[in-house]
Amino acid sequence: MNIIHIYLFGLGNVGSTLIKQILESQHFFKTHQGIELKIVGLANSRKVLTTADGIGDDWEQEFAQKSITRRSDAFYDFASSYVEVRIAVDATASKELSHFYPELVEQGFHVVTANKIANTLSQEFYDNLRLLLRERDLSFEYETNVGAGLPIVDTIRNLHKSGEEIFAVNGVFSGSLGYIFNRFSEEELPFSSIVLEALKNGYTEPDPREDLSGNDVARKLLVLARETGLKIEFSDITIENLVILDLQTASANQFIDRITELDKPLLHRKSLLQPDEVLRHLGKLDVVNKSLEVSLQVVKKDSPAGQLQGSDGFFEIYSESYASHPLVIKGAGAGKAVTARGLLSDIIKIAKSCPIVIYK
Ligand SMILES: NC(=O)c1ccc[n+]([C@@H]2O[C@H](COP(=O)([O-])OP(=O)(O)OC[C@H]3O[C@@H](n4cnc5c(N)ncnc54)[C@H](OP(=O)(O)O)[C@@H]3O)[C@@H](O)[C@H]2O)c1
Repeated sequence: MNIIHIYLFGLGNVGSTLIKQILESQHFFKTHQGIELKIVGLANSRKVLTTADGIGDDWEQEFAQKSITRRSDAFYDFASSYVEVRIAVDATASKELSHFYPELVEQGFHVVTANKIANTLSQEFYDNLRLLLRERDLSFEYETNVGAGLPIVDTIRNLHKSGEEIFAVNGVFSGSLGYIFNRFSEEELPFSSIVLEALKNGYTEPDPREDLSGNDVARKLLVLARETGLKIEFSDITIENLVILDLQTASANQFIDRITELDKPLLHRKSLLQPDEVLRHLGKLDVVNKSLEVSLQVVKKDSPAGQLQGSDGFFEIYSESYASHPLVIKGAGAGKAVTARGLLSDIIKIAKSCPIVIYK
């Protein structure tokens, strides 16, 4: 039996769903795969809880009663007293935590993350983190950085590793913006009310401007671009920002209070559509020309992107073997359940690759 100790940062939409999924499937992994998953650390931005026995169904109560003020080294202190396979799971959108990954690796943690920031900091940070991981023989998995639970990162990585030249990746990279523009194109609702509903349902980033600014899709393009071996910075990406200038620097609360100011410019874009056209938010990664572009586009209703429903993501991968007929991946591209399942799948991937630790 390989016992995997999980330290989870972030107890919001994705983090709490991951806990539920792990607790529900603990028995399955133990009996069918010889893996015991134990969540021994929990942290939000203010509090931290460690427990040698692992949390149970009453974790929320336990966290409320027994957690202590968060110190960034709380997990290290606790983990250092055990010989264990330890995985730090990042289910936050925190920049601060992303900067801690090298330290987590130094402390012997594998890292699994839904947070795109670490992979989209400078190329230098990216390369140094990988060097450190190789030196320590530890893993870093981030399938949920692109397309939530859809297997995009792994597909690109496997094609690249097998020597296949990747030419381009195009599509609807954001399930959240997919959901928003599918509805906006078809329904007579103000843009702002659709965004607020998407936020309430956990489809958008905690601050929806991260999606509407195009930054979130740009980060996804960058994650994939670097997976294909390109050396490139976030500042090299051409991004169309859908947030009006006035609201770009407002506080998160002010933005929500004034979100109806986005309605007019977007209604104007919609009024220019022909009956057989819809608006879609597209990402274009042109690997050959090293060009990354994020923008709102008019597409035909009967095109693959035009036919998307709900929060589906849609990715077309063009490569040597898929030059004229792209490899297409399509499906739910946002949502806490599919994202948490993607994190769990990354955890199991690492668990299976780890040598069994003998406990005395
Ligand atoms: N929702 C989706 O469909 C989806 C899809 C793909 C990827 N993701 C990614 O998943 C991540 C989490 O999204 P979410 O929707 O679950 O966000 P969320 O509901 O806002 O939860 C964020 C959690 O992170 C905690 N947190 C913030 N800073 C922290 C820090 N420095 N240390 C420890 N915890 C910290 C917050 O704690 P407090 O409550 O104390 O602030 C909160 O518990 C994001 O990176 C997002 O991009 C989400």
